[in-house]
Amino acid sequence: MSEPTSLEGRRILVTGAAQGLGLTIAERIIDLGGSVVVADVQDEAGEHAVAALGAAARYEHLDVSSDADWASVCDRVTDSFGGLDGLVNNAALLDMGPLERIDPDRARRLLEVNLLGPLLGIRALAPLLRASGGGSIVNISSIGGLEGMNSTATYNATKWGLRGLSRAAALELGLDGTRVNTVCPGMGNPDMPTPFLTDFDLDRYLESAPRLPFHRAGQPRNVDVHDVAEMVVWLLSDAARGCTGADFAVDAGWTAGTFAPGLPGF
Ligand SMILES: NC(=O)c1ccc[n+]([C@@H]2O[C@H](COP(=O)([O-])OP(=O)(O)OC[C@H]3O[C@@H](n4cnc5c(N)ncnc54)[C@H](O)[C@@H]3O)[C@@H](O)[C@H]2O)c1
Repeated sequence: MSEPTSLEGRRILVTGAAQGLGLTIAERIIDLGGSVVVADVQDEAGEHAVAALGAAARYEHLDVSSDADWASVCDRVTDSFGGLDGLVNNAALLDMGPLERIDPDRARRLLEVNLLGPLLGIRALAPLLRASGGGSIVNISSIGGLEGMNSTATYNATKWGLRGLSRAAALELGLDGTRVNTVCPGMGNPDMPTPFLTDFDLDRYLESAPRLPFHRAGQPRNVDVHDVAEMVVWLLSDAARGCTGADFAVDAGWTAGTFAPGLPGF
């Protein structure tokens, strides 16, 4: 059976792709016929990932918060790939702790990486996407960009901000045919947290899992990286040509609302 979502011939840069969700997205882009620039600050892990991904992948060192890094990656991508068709702003940091104990320097770093980074990336690469006839940009937000949570104030602020950036960019870049969308992954599956959530008490967090309709149906899972990657590659492809400026939650219903036991029929 042929794949409904084709990325044949598409050249796509994924930030933070040396591991975790970004790496799974890179793998799936290649499965679907595309080629990938794996961009990260972890050079050894990035080179290792590219060696496993094969000839359709190349590694670039990129600190997303650095304007100079974006400019040089843009030059190198033009030289090696001859252009670009897609960008996935996936790299991000998480910081956890009570609002009143937030370290301002750490908060500034989260804002730089999670919010300024995607802005600088869109700014740097929009001309390449335009030159290829209009591309697709996917910004990875979070359920933390759709609601708030105790202990994650800075992260929430960056991920909500990213949705605003996406919408403004969709309006501006849409003039030249580039689409910009946001994906909001859920969390809580053992396959989703990755090293990103090392300080996280997953078991206690999952005590609130009955909120999830999938849990009520007896499936002990929220979402995993493959569920999220599937949404990302669909948005990168022409199958999503009708979608721009929109948020796509892949959260197993986490943000759908509150399930209220005791109401009539339940
Ligand atoms: N893991 C989850 O449960 C979860 C849930 C919701 C949303 N998300 C989002 O998914 C995305 C990926 O998360 P993950 O779980 O794969 O995280 P991860 O920590 O496993 O991977 C993040 C990658 O970003 C890279 N990175 C960090 N700072 C960077 C910088 N300045 N420049 C370039 N690269 C940098 C890291 O080296 C790492 O390879 C993030 O945007 C995150 O907010 C994750």
